[in-house]
Amino acid sequence: MATLIFLVVVSAILIGLAVGAAYFKKETARLPSSDSKYAGSLPSISSLPAFSWQSIRPTQFRPFKRIYHITMALQSTSPDDLIVIDQDYKDRIELRRDVIANNKDTIMGVLYEDDGFTPQAASKDVVDEIYEYLMSSYLPARFPTIFTKEPSGDGKTSVLYNRIMGSRFPCAPPLDPLEAFRILGETVEDDLFILKEEDTTSTVEGGPEYPSTSHRVVAFLCCFPSGFDPKAKLGLLLKDVHKPVPSYDKIGPSMERFFSKLEAGKSAKRLNRQWSVQTHTNLFTPTGNHIHEGEAYEDDADVDIDTARFRVECQTITRLPQTRGVLFSFKTYLFPIKEIKAEGMGPSLADAVEGLKSGNAPGMWTYKGGVRWGKSMCAYLRG
Ligand code: HEM
Repeated sequence: MATLIFLVVVSAILIGLAVGAAYFKKETARLPSSDSKYAGSLPSISSLPAFSWQSIRPTQFRPFKRIYHITMALQSTSPDDLIVIDQDYKDRIELRRDVIANNKDTIMGVLYEDDGFTPQAASKDVVDEIYEYLMSSYLPARFPTIFTKEPSGDGKTSVLYNRIMGSRFPCAPPLDPLEAFRILGETVEDDLFILKEEDTTSTVEGGPEYPSTSHRVVAFLCCFPSGFDPKAKLGLLLKDVHKPVPSYDKIGPSMERFFSKLEAGKSAKRLNRQWSVQTHTNLFTPTGNHIHEGEAYEDDADVDIDTARFRVECQTITRLPQTRGVLFSFKTYLFPIKEIKAEGMGPSLADAVEGLKSGNAPGMWTYKGGVRWGKSMCAYLRG
């Protein structure tokens, strides 16, 4: 009898161990790490375990001042601020799908090794680092109520399930960096420019105030450009990217110095958020919002107030630890001008619009289109 009890107990233990081992194997397969080449590359982020995207109203930014000064206005920040999700998310992602499907060559681009720049300018490594960071670490950790990692069919890799869009995309970067951008474009609302540092001592005419290195745009995904053609910026150094910007020379050297000192894993955000006024509701605006030198325009045009919008960009800059590329990302906000007036801020905005002429960058009045819509907009805002 004792032998029988002994055999039963031993068998139960062995069965228990076997079941446990199988379960453990399954758990391990559920959370594969083999697709994490860049795992842990940036500081950890805080999770939002009860995040409810539909209840988050877009932040109502009103960053205008009476007089416009061109400034860096940067403040260090944590990666928590990199991706912001609010109740516009679904509509924005649907719009981005549309923009990507119809304007792929305008809104995304990458440099390859044989593109005539330095071999280091090839961008696949940085695109992969960003892709993996966002899809494998950041999004499921920060927004667990929206994004969850699941095992893929083969059990060896993971996919990221997006509960709002119902989409599943691989957590590991696809071979083609443009495909990586398509997926990112349908997953986050932010536009992404990627830059790499290079020695420009012999190629760039700066002044003694410029550092010996500069940053080149090596890849971009930009569904919501405001008044510029994103593809025309690919391959340019920061200084040349900003050629159309009036009085850029006032911040150019500090900007280069800031970029060259930005440490791996550190992020900064621009506080003095870029604002403008536009006379339509479009987010995809590769032409129109800005007036570039020599461009014809209609003075004091009438404005349809129903479609006029106040546009703000929230920008962040992050140095990636593995590839040392820099990610410049921004989320765009549009607010009806009527709402700003209804809040009682009409006269302040009118002052700020006219103040574009009187700060340290008076060319902003024309560049931002004030010559076109300023008069009728200010009359409405003060009326
Ligand atoms: C410290 C960082 C930066 C500062 C202070 C800065 C500043 C500015 C300013 C003042 C403008 C004028 C637009 C307006 O006010 O409406 C501008 C335009 C622009 N910036 Fe930057 N910028 C920064 C980083 C970058 C980076 C990293 C890129 C990457 C490509 C970039 C791309 C652009 C583009 C494409 C435009 C529009 C230029 C055009 O009209 O063709 N900026 N920036």
